[in-house]
Amino acid sequence: MGIVVRGGTIVTENNCYQADVRIQGETIAAVGDGVMQSGDTVLMADGCYIFPGGIDAHTHFDLPVGSMATADDFLSGTRAAILGGTTTIIDYATQFSGESLQQGLANWHRRAEGKCYCDYGFHMAITDWNENVAGEIPWLSREAGVSSVKLYMAYKHIMQVDDSALFQVLERSRDNGMLTCVHCENGDIIDNLIRQFRRQGKMAPAYHYLTRPPRVEQEAVNRLAALAEVTGAPVLVVHLSCREALETVAQAKARGVRIWAETCPQYLVLDDSVYQDTTFNCAKYVMSPPLRAREHQEYLWNGLKTDILDTVATDHCSFNYHGQKETGCDDFSKIPNGAPGVEHRLGLLYTYGVKTRKISLTQFVDKVATQPAKLFGLFPKKGTIAPGSDADLVIWDERRQVTLGAVSHAHNVDYSAYEGMEQQGQAIHVFLRGRHVVRDGKLCTASPQGQFVRRKPFCMKAYSE
Ligand code: URP
Ligand code: ZN
Ligand code: ZN
Repeated sequence: MGIVVRGGTIVTENNCYQADVRIQGETIAAVGDGVMQSGDTVLMADGCYIFPGGIDAHTHFDLPVGSMATADDFLSGTRAAILGGTTTIIDYATQFSGESLQQGLANWHRRAEGKCYCDYGFHMAITDWNENVAGEIPWLSREAGVSSVKLYMAYKHIMQVDDSALFQVLERSRDNGMLTCVHCENGDIIDNLIRQFRRQGKMAPAYHYLTRPPRVEQEAVNRLAALAEVTGAPVLVVHLSCREALETVAQAKARGVRIWAETCPQYLVLDDSVYQDTTFNCAKYVMSPPLRAREHQEYLWNGLKTDILDTVATDHCSFNYHGQKETGCDDFSKIPNGAPGVEHRLGLLYTYGVKTRKISLTQFVDKVATQPAKLFGLFPKKGTIAPGSDADLVIWDERRQVTLGAVSHAHNVDYSAYEGMEQQGQAIHVFLRGRHVVRDGKLCTASPQGQFVRRKPFCMKAYSE
């Protein structure tokens, strides 16, 4: 006995058509007309779109930062994700100083296990590179099911790695079928600017923004592109925020560098006007990179349209305004960086991208589901609607209108970066591997059903299929 989703319009990365979807067990059994079998139950989806479940490849749940941890752990973070139509997240497991990768990964498994409402995988963030760690890379991709690592070119004295470590990680990762994700900002320039402002007594949150201008991001993207070119290793620029960095990626792609790029909804729909607020309120938008001037948005949308930007993730990294962001009330450099958003990725991209015709419906699906699946070794199990794929489905009703805000969101955080903004459409039903987990926009599963997904190695062929 299966479930037939009937009457909706299926949208995949390259097609948009009316057909039924038959789910049997955890997978999609058939797509088309006349797929119904006796005993099947039917879910009517008239007037709705059927998208493959979203894949958010950039989250930070239960991340310890100094003496605190992010406001969302895996329980609240994945609950918000699935309510917004994201059925898989890939979180940044982090190796802290002195740890092995095995210890870092085991730590993240403990944090996530039994707590996830959606499926989940991990990237491995390397902050302490040495010979022993280098020896663990083959294990990571071949046995642990983790086929991507992450490096930070910023956050000096905390997570930043130097060019030598970057070069060595790229070579190792390349040889072991791994994609290297990189936070691209020049941490040395930022560190100097922070110290200058502090010496001058400039401590307000808006100074965070002034320590991280677009050139600082672009310089790091350029350096990464050069390292990728020299090593031949595949790299992904995470949370790309500005025109300068985008143009650098475009040039690198044009000369054949294996470089991909991700942007985030906050850079597409919010802008740096928030930093004009002279109160501490703008600490809510202290994130890295910071929000940019409005004119950058047009370039980013165009980057999505022309495939210079490959994916949209959220970089969900939530800290309460009260008690957490506030620890930096006397010094901007102590404000924990990051903002919430995992619940709103599909809604924001649909409303401000598809409805305004900046991107098409198929491009929308490509950026939120298919490209992340391909880049991160999940395709075609996830990221599309086809027989044999996991039955991760989002029934999207665009007749619903939602006003975003802290009182209604599912994030476990006391503010919304998108307070008062309108979202057109809503994930009214969500299936996770065949289980109906969101019904009429509400969670309908008593316990978290998400599983750890072991990812395949990075593969150019799979990617370009
Ligand atoms: O401000 C941000 N983005 N915080 C999360 C950590 C990171 O840099 O990705
Ligand atoms: Zn980052
Ligand atoms: Zn991040």
